[in-house]
Amino acid sequence: MRLENKVAVITGGASGMGLATAMRFLEEGARVVIADYNAETGNAALIAADGAGYRGLASFIRTDVASEPDVEAMLQRALDEYDGLDIVFNNAGVGGAVGPLTETTVSDWDYTFDVLAKGVFLGIKHAARIMQSAGKGGSIINTASVAGLSGDGGPLVYSAAKAAVISLSKSAAVELAPDLIRVNAICPGFIATPLSAGTRPGADGEDLDPLRAAFAKSQPWPAHGTADHVAGAALFLASDDSEFVTGETILVDGGLTAAGPELSRKFPRVSSRNSKVSGVTKGSTGEANEIRRLD
Ligand SMILES: NC(=O)c1ccc[n+]([C@@H]2O[C@H](COP(=O)([O-])OP(=O)(O)OC[C@H]3O[C@@H](n4cnc5c(N)ncnc54)[C@H](O)[C@@H]3O)[C@@H](O)[C@H]2O)c1
Repeated sequence: MRLENKVAVITGGASGMGLATAMRFLEEGARVVIADYNAETGNAALIAADGAGYRGLASFIRTDVASEPDVEAMLQRALDEYDGLDIVFNNAGVGGAVGPLTETTVSDWDYTFDVLAKGVFLGIKHAARIMQSAGKGGSIINTASVAGLSGDGGPLVYSAAKAAVISLSKSAAVELAPDLIRVNAICPGFIATPLSAGTRPGADGEDLDPLRAAFAKSQPWPAHGTADHVAGAALFLASDDSEFVTGETILVDGGLTAAGPELSRKFPRVSSRNSKVSGVTKGSTGEANEIRRLD
């Protein structure tokens, strides 16, 4: 088991990627504090963990990650209940402000940044204090998004906040490296969860089916992204397997970002995979191209 004797706190742990990661960490031997704004889904997550055989190894604390006292209390829960803190997954999120930037209000901007960026800052700040004084190092993982990498990956304020998470992760990694505290970010692509579906909290069944079908066609990888895919990346970053990995941003996006301008879709002649010819073109050199047909 890769997380034997480790204690983890997971924000947004009641649903989607956070819940999948909580279950994966429990399977790998960790004790887990599930922190979430939604007490109903949080308690349901705890019942699910108990039912899966992890009674006493997981606990739930109602937390607003935008509140400093809440974040301190959530991390204190790990110390009180499990006598340590090795891993913090700052993952809670909402879609936040939507609509044209010309209509975006300051309060909608503030709410979005409070949850997505300030929440991560507070999680890093207080995790670092505890980990520094324990002197054993630790792993802090922050959920950003491919939306933070380009101009059309998500709503404007959400994307700006996720870009802040990527930057914050790198700066914190540099500052905390001497304490052996690693800080990394995960950028999920399109992942079928209640958040991306805009569906009822905690849903993981047929509510997500139409979204799964659409997502399966939205990136090079021919299947939809799942919360478990993100949990796998979080497990790598949480475990000692990633001991020398810090300040990294890991894409979990089925090749969405790698596809970039998607030339082969927009200009099929450029496509490598489906091309009927192979060889080399020599541009304006005056030398002849060397092209052979693939029959
Ligand atoms: N689903 C996607 O396609 C996708 C893509 C990229 C990034 N993300 C990010 O992944 C993370 C997890 O999202 P998900 O898709 O699993 O969504 P989800 O809605 O299934 O889970 C998010 C959880 O965060 C909790 N939460 C929201 N505000 C909170 C607050 N202020 N304090 C504490 N908890 C709060 C919610 O109650 C919920 O349980 C988010 O940060 C999201 O922005 C999602």
